[in-house]
Amino acid sequence: MRLRRSLIDLDDLTGDELRAIFDRTRAFETHDPGPLLHNVPVVNLFFEQSTRTFTSFNLAQLRLGAIVVNLSPKDLSLAGKGETIEDTVITLAAMGVNLLVVRHSEAGFPARVASAFDGHVVNAGDGAHAHPTQALLDLYTMREEFGQVRGLNVAIVGDILHSRVAHSTINGLRHLGANVTLVGPEFFLPGDYAREGISIERDFDAVLPHADAIVLLRIQRERFAAMPMTDDEYVARYQLNGERLRRLPERTIVMHPGPYNRGMELDDSVLTFAGWRYAMQVHHGVYIRMAVLDFLVNGSTVSA
Ligand code: ASP
Ligand code: CP
Repeated sequence: MRLRRSLIDLDDLTGDELRAIFDRTRAFETHDPGPLLHNVPVVNLFFEQSTRTFTSFNLAQLRLGAIVVNLSPKDLSLAGKGETIEDTVITLAAMGVNLLVVRHSEAGFPARVASAFDGHVVNAGDGAHAHPTQALLDLYTMREEFGQVRGLNVAIVGDILHSRVAHSTINGLRHLGANVTLVGPEFFLPGDYAREGISIERDFDAVLPHADAIVLLRIQRERFAAMPMTDDEYVARYQLNGERLRRLPERTIVMHPGPYNRGMELDDSVLTFAGWRYAMQVHHGVYIRMAVLDFLVNGSTVSA
């Protein structure tokens, strides 16, 4: 079997490839590239809920002219007839399916799929492991805002431990030369996250005066049994609210992968803050995914 190129985490891409994907994203945002995936059969396989990632992959695939099938895992033979995921994807490949987009609650699941599937696999989020296309769109949003990621002071705040977005974004930020500060309580941010270029801060207020970008995270309660502190304690220490916004430099942007929980990691004043870039991130997400799909299927030269 010929192993085709997949995107499981950002480590799969070199610095030049990251930049090529960003350039391609920008080109696609300004000019419709046409049907670069004309008649390519793709299947979206989401075992976990999704609004943004699922919809933007669908839009990206349709805009590129792919043939799109959305499978609902509960209706598959996998669910009730004892078929394995490996045999499921061997079956899909035999039908000519060329690319799979996979989300699953188990870390490593998309990599397992990639080792059995004769085609491309894109990880759309696996457990707390990785969410590479979210990280790409986050990095792209910073790059568009500031011209480059190198040298930016980026604070990622909240439930780092259970966040696949944080894990992939930290990877990408270090790769591109940003200074990363992780902010949160011990339970969500164990001390061993600290390494070269990555510092740990327990006091959110301490990072506010120096931040170019703040990435807020949802507390991912579906991934752990009990909150280590009351919600009120968490809000007092880590919520971005009107008062903390006033202490940010004028240039600072605030980002969130979504879904955000109002009243927890942010209050409503963030949603009207001039530097709030959530909608921009979501917008970029469609074009980043178009660029990734084109890159995997058609190769690494910039084609637009
Ligand atoms: N939507 C992102 C993810 O699937 C972040 C989150 O759920 O909080 O990882
Ligand atoms: N950001 C993100 O992955 O959102 P969804 O879980 O809604 O896809």
